[in-house]
Amino acid sequence: MSKTAGLIDVVLSPPEIDLLPKRDLAGCTAVAFDILRATSTMITALSNGAEGIWPVRTIEEAWALKKKHPEALLGGERHGERIEGFDLGNSPLEYGENVRTREIISTTTNGTIALRAVEHAALVFAGSLLNIGAIAAHLHAQLPGELLLVCAGTFREAALEDILAAGMLIDLLPGRPLTDSAETALALYQQNHSDLAAVLHRARNGRALLAKGREAEVDWCARNSVIALLAEMTREGCVRHKTV
Ligand code: MLT
Repeated sequence: MSKTAGLIDVVLSPPEIDLLPKRDLAGCTAVAFDILRATSTMITALSNGAEGIWPVRTIEEAWALKKKHPEALLGGERHGERIEGFDLGNSPLEYGENVRTREIISTTTNGTIALRAVEHAALVFAGSLLNIGAIAAHLHAQLPGELLLVCAGTFREAALEDILAAGMLIDLLPGRPLTDSAETALALYQQNHSDLAAVLHRARNGRALLAKGREAEVDWCARNSVIALLAEMTREGCVRHKTV
């Protein structure tokens, strides 16, 4: 795809994410969304004083990185549940005062995969509804070359809540050229902007969490622009609070 200044594209689902490592992302700013729950949890952890989150693809990679960072906490999930031997699951409500000043190694089904798939982009941010206002303000000021919004998905499927968030960010950055995938995300958001929580409640992963009695987590992740924080994945591969 030829480069267009300010063009916004959206990767809607995991099969498209599989292709990203081979895509030229030079000069491109990427924002990865996993609203339920990985990136919402990362933003929450950083807002509670965590030093950084290392997103990794596999449980084996997590244990290997733990050897290099023995002080780090292990967090993440498989099938929505804490991984055996890990310190934390993937609920944002588990990442409070207990993570202040700590580093966290995180592996999840979709979110950490999405972040690593764009590690070769010029700039990489972890995004959520919680801090979407801060992301929009920063990108508005930065005017990046191209903007790629990555919707992490649920297992191998597109996730409604991630596409909603991508659409919301596009709505907050008006006047840019959009690909059809970006137009699709924007339309979904404009159709549902009055009740974000309702979309999360009817999304596949939202329903799965509600079925486990985790309504508080779903509603936490649905809150709009309540955390004024930017979370950038650095060249070393750690998501840290970016001070602007
Ligand atoms: C993921 O990364 O797949 C999700 O965050 C999983 C979850 O937390 O339910």
